Amino acid sequence: MKVLVSDKINEEAIKIIKENGIEFDYKTNLSEEELISIIAEYDALLVRSDTKVTPKILEAGTKLKLVGRAGVGTDNIDKEKARELGIVIENTPFGNTNAAAEHTITMLMMLSKHIIHANESMKKGNWDRTFKSTELKGKTLGLIGFGNVGKKVAKVAIALEMKVIVYDPFIEENKLKEIGVKKAELEEIITKSDYISPHVPLNDKTKNMISEKEFEKMKNGVKILNVARGGVINEKALLEAIKKGKVTAAALDVYETEPPTNQELITNQKIITTPHLGANTSEAQTNVAIEIAEQVVLALTKKEVKNCVNGLKQFR
Ligand code: MLT
Repeated sequence: MKVLVSDKINEEAIKIIKENGIEFDYKTNLSEEELISIIAEYDALLVRSDTKVTPKILEAGTKLKLVGRAGVGTDNIDKEKARELGIVIENTPFGNTNAAAEHTITMLMMLSKHIIHANESMKKGNWDRTFKSTELKGKTLGLIGFGNVGKKVAKVAIALEMKVIVYDPFIEENKLKEIGVKKAELEEIITKSDYISPHVPLNDKTKNMISEKEFEKMKNGVKILNVARGGVINEKALLEAIKKGKVTAAALDVYETEPPTNQELITNQKIITTPHLGANTSEAQTNVAIEIAEQVVLALTKKEVKNCVNGLKQFR
């Protein structure tokens, strides 16, 4: 059995693969052509988000049984093609969700307090005490999606005495009541929230979920976060809403294309940006590396499939 690790990953993953007597190669920054030319050697491919696992790569991987994603989002992998070929796609749904939730809360705080601007001003030698922040207490946070990240964000927001409303068609109302949040329709999230934060994967249903039409219906002065996936919020529409003054501030960690090409968006002073760092804590990177390596070992040595995201129970 042989595994290809094609993105930078915590060394714990390599250790686990090695300890289990599985051969591996660690080759990062490969082009699609390079991957196509070598993938036939491997039984499993282990990636983060940099490797784009295209249909051509999957087709060339004639021995490929599994693609393991150290992380949650699998939008960089063609899941349908893999399913058609009998290749299992697995992710690690737990290891980095705390990190993403903490990043979201940090951005929520940043959106309500002038830490960044006041810090920049002081570094320039100023003593400007006119910065006026707002409080989160009493404000409405609208969450779209109530998975592991959304749930943790909600708990902290409740502790901060925010009102939390959640749109998630897959969650039962009593699960939300338990932690003091209210179930809402998407329309309510859009029209009633002071802060809106999606926590959903990118797919056909969530792409451009927040676009011109939605921005128009929002409260004046709304603040927008995206620590989930670029493309869920339409960047052009967000920029327009900021220019019109409808949205007063936004915080983005993820972009329609990464690295982002829309300079107007990145350089806008009302938008706080980080380069997809939501899961970049040392704890999270260790967690997901261990989780995915253990899953790869389980699959290759015991044929056990865990956390499959493309609807297969077994690989070919
Ligand atoms: C995830 O999907 O796990 C996070 O966005 C982090 C990443 O892409 O690696």
